[in-house]
Parts: sequence; C-alpha cells; structure tokens
Amino acid sequence: MNAPDDLPFSPAAERNQGPILAQLQAVLPPQGHALEIASGTGQHALHFAAGLPGWHWQMSDPDPQALSTLQARRARADAALQARLGPPRALDVHQPDWLPPGQGVDLVFCANLLHIAPWSSCAALMQGAARVLRPAGVLITYGPYVVADQPTAPSNLAFDADLKARNPAWGLRALDAVAAEAQAAGLQLQARHALPANNLLLVWGRQPAGPIPT
Ligand SMILES: C[S@@+](CC[C@H](N)C(=O)[O-])C[C@H]1O[C@@H](n2cnc3c(N)ncnc32)[C@H](O)[C@@H]1O
Repeated sequence: MNAPDDLPFSPAAERNQGPILAQLQAVLPPQGHALEIASGTGQHALHFAAGLPGWHWQMSDPDPQALSTLQARRARADAALQARLGPPRALDVHQPDWLPPGQGVDLVFCANLLHIAPWSSCAALMQGAARVLRPAGVLITYGPYVVADQPTAPSNLAFDADLKARNPAWGLRALDAVAAEAQAAGLQLQARHALPANNLLLVWGRQPAGPIPT
C-alpha cells in the first residue's frame, strides 16, 4: 500500500507510532543515539526522531527496496531532522559488524521483526544489541508476543496462523523464549508495557554485574 506521497506505507505503523512514541518519551533520557533495526518504511523513524528532539536516530534495514524508501523518506524531511536521522544503514541482524568499531548507542529499537523472520534472528538481535549498547543503554522491542499463563488474543492467534502459512519459519514468539535469548546475551527484561491491539513494548537492559569478589 502506498501513501499519497507514493512511498511504501504501513497503515499499522501509522496507527501504532503514537502509542510507541509516548512510551519512548516516558522511558528514554532527553538525549542519545538510537540504532533502529528493521526500519521498514521509515514512518516510525521519522515520527520518533521528530518527537525525540535530543536524539540521533539511525535507520537500518537489510532490504535494498526498504533502504531506498528510507533514503527517500529522509530526503523529504526538513534539514534539521535529516541531520538527526543520518543516511540509512544496510544491516541484517545476523551480521557481526552492526556499527563501525568503537561506536556505541544508547538505544537499539526494533519493532515487528521477531515474528516475521526466522527464530535465529532473535539470538542475533540480542547478541548484536549487547555488542553495541553503551553500559546504560537499552534495547526496546515492540510487537505481538505469546505470554505464558495469559490467553493469547484471538487476533494474535489468527495473525500467527497467517504468518506460519506464509512462511513456516515465521510466527509469534514466546516471551519466555525471547527472554532466554536475551539472558544468553547478557540482557534482561527491565519493563513491559501493554500497547494497543495486543502488542507489547519491552525494555531490555544489561544484567547487573555480579558481586565483586573479595
Ligand atoms: C514487518 S516489517 C517491520 C517494519 C517496521 N519496523 C514497522 O514496525 O513498521 C519487517 C522488517 O524487517 C526487516 N528484516 C527482515 N529480516 C531482517 C533481518 N534479518 N535483519 C534486520 N531486518 C530484517 C524487513 O526488511 C522489514 O523491513
């Protein structure tokens, strides 16, 4: 689906960008550097960068078509916003070199990737985030999850079936399994926020260092 400006457009991103931004504004410090994984159409990036004026927001995606959309969307922003967005980066979570050596970020943001990519993407996301996050940085993921001991909404069950029919390697992920991959990478769940349409916004941070041996 295309927006009136003829760039690829996601109606879901248009609907959820407001509630996600409200959580980002509540959770994040006033300034920092963000790396967005799987930026897709770039609607989120433009909306979040505009609503977080102290932040530099790095878009990324591995898909060449998405990258040209991200470039075009950035080019239509005003000069100040363009400067805080920077050129989009070609990035697949599985690659080891997410950022140039020595460059760290305060936020890794990733919406709607884990259910629409093979399960290996989860470990890759957690390990990559752990590599590039500064000590107090956080990984924020957004999307639908299956939560143990909680009934999954019928709309999410239908979405899961649809995803699996499109690609057997896709599907909604269990929050416990995602948390296990996070733990293996040295990250842990710090906060969980319920957002509209049965989605969760999850904040992952570094596990506290163990006690200093005496
Ligand atoms: C459903 S779209 C989500 C786009 C956007 N984050 C949103 O919420 O509207 C999934 C995106 O994940 C990207 N993607 C797929 N596999 C990926 C991978 N291995 N690493 C990084 N991004 C990936 C796709 O190119 C696509 O842009």
